Amino acid sequence: MAVPLEHPRNAVDPELEELEIELLLEAVYRRYGFDFRQYAQASLRRRLTRRMQAEGAATLSELQARLLHDPPSMERLLLDLSINVTAMFRDPSFYVTFREKVVPLLRTYPFTRIWCAGCSTGEEVYSLAILLEEEGLYERARIYATDINENVLATARAGVFPLSKMKQYTENYIRGGGTLDFSRYYVTAYDGAQFARSLTENVVFAQHNLASDRSFNVFNAILCRNVMIYFDRTLQERVHGLFHESLETFGILALGHKESLSFTSVAQCYEELDATERIYRKIR
Ligand SMILES: C[S@@+](CC[C@H](N)C(=O)[O-])C[C@H]1O[C@@H](n2cnc3c(N)ncnc32)[C@H](O)[C@@H]1O
Repeated sequence: MAVPLEHPRNAVDPELEELEIELLLEAVYRRYGFDFRQYAQASLRRRLTRRMQAEGAATLSELQARLLHDPPSMERLLLDLSINVTAMFRDPSFYVTFREKVVPLLRTYPFTRIWCAGCSTGEEVYSLAILLEEEGLYERARIYATDINENVLATARAGVFPLSKMKQYTENYIRGGGTLDFSRYYVTAYDGAQFARSLTENVVFAQHNLASDRSFNVFNAILCRNVMIYFDRTLQERVHGLFHESLETFGILALGHKESLSFTSVAQCYEELDATERIYRKIR
């Protein structure tokens, strides 16, 4: 169908916008390998428009050209798109349930492999390492902590978090079932809290894209919280397939209260361990 040519340049034409977004995401994928083509539309549109304005581009097509020719602008977009908000012992009740219901199962293994997918700047990984350490499991565990974004992984590897957050994290730790003095896990340096190196001795940080990369090991447990909320249904299906393939039978899938396994094609393959924290066990 022919498009009328008199459409005013500044008015947002939803069809044109959709086309521009599609082309931009294809361009980003082909040039840089980052695949955001199956991210949830509404939040994607919001973030791209915000980046377009911040870069001083008049249209999404102009932003696309910028991204193709200027890699630093791609870095900035990556930060916008891979929303990295996180915290230590985030949603503390999750950790209480993990201690109560998952730790006893992990104890039955001589060695456990845990995948923390979409780990962002690492706060979740350090929290998990602390929990395992306190439960006497850390020595015989290996955590694979992955994220699409290399920048956040660099922060995760460094293990230095703002000192100003330690009050909140201490409260989270206690509400998450911690009983020791939280400050034993870090030393202060200027305005940062440097977490103990021992907490990452059994951690492998690596870049991994849930949208396009394959399974890389078989795990006893997978944690993936606050990640798939940004994906559309097709991509969620892909990731659930990947997790199912990557979990051994009776392995644990911990999604946190914002995500769900219901309505996915693998739902029948799991039994529910905790309905509130959305923790499941693979049974087939
Ligand atoms: C909101 S953070 C969640 C961090 C942590 N799991 C938590 O619950 O606090 C979401 C993370 O998912 C990562 N992410 C987004 N898309 C991804 C993808 N396709 N593959 C791997 N990680 C991805 C982002 O880079 C970001 O660090």
